[in-house]
Amino acid sequence: MNWMDSDNRYGMVSRIIHWLMAALLILMLFSEAWMEALGDHAGEPGMAWHQSIGITLLVLLVGRLAWRALNRGKVTPPERWRTAARLGHLALYGVMLAIPLTGALTALGEGHGIELFGWGIVAPGPEIEWMEEAGEETHEVMANLLWVILAGHVLAALAHQHLLGDNTLRKMA
Ligand code: HEM
Ligand code: HEM
Repeated sequence: MNWMDSDNRYGMVSRIIHWLMAALLILMLFSEAWMEALGDHAGEPGMAWHQSIGITLLVLLVGRLAWRALNRGKVTPPERWRTAARLGHLALYGVMLAIPLTGALTALGEGHGIELFGWGIVAPGPEIEWMEEAGEETHEVMANLLWVILAGHVLAALAHQHLLGDNTLRKMA
């Protein structure tokens, strides 16, 4: 079994992280619906799950970036599209980093603690209004931006497969 990326295929580790992150991100982007159902106030299960899955995604992102660095240059986009692909992936990674950080600012600004699967990482404290407002606004804008970037990502993957015919979809599947 190939754990590392190779010239023509992403390895097992990259593929597992990719599809796990994809599934969790979609789940998180629909948070409003399920948080409401579970109860989205401080200490209630909806927000606790939201925070826990969000922090898990941050950990997966850091792991993915480290793994990507270890596998540097194994799978490269075609020459003509290299810059576009780099910028697109940079935007994707940047937004995925900004979302949990602004989420944490919102939670702290609201005076709520931060929880990871029942384990209190930051205890509740005083409310800080400017932090809550700035965090909430940015968190929401970034989540909406992530929808757009992911749509572009999937369209690019389909274009690779059907227009460029370079098998990109197979490399990650
Ligand atoms: C990739 C990770 C994350 C995604 C995709 C995400 C996405 C979202 C979405 C779509 C909403 C609803 C936005 C709205 O109010 O319309 C939301 C709300 C919220 N998120 Fe996240 N989130 C993530 C991580 C986190 C983390 C790690 C925290 C805290 C540690 C957090 C804290 C919050 C809070 C406090 C709200 C409620 C804001 C409000 O009062 O309206 N989020 N998030
Ligand atoms: C349709 C087939 C898809 C293909 C062929 C594909 C391909 C890729 C490739 C090649 C990368 C690595 C970019 C790099 O070198 O840094 C990547 C990253 C990423 N993709 Fe996809 N993708 C697909 C669908 C999706 C979907 C549906 C989602 C989420 C809804 C998604 C989310 C992500 C995320 C979060 C990353 C960054 C984390 C990582 O590099 O694994 N992808 N994708």
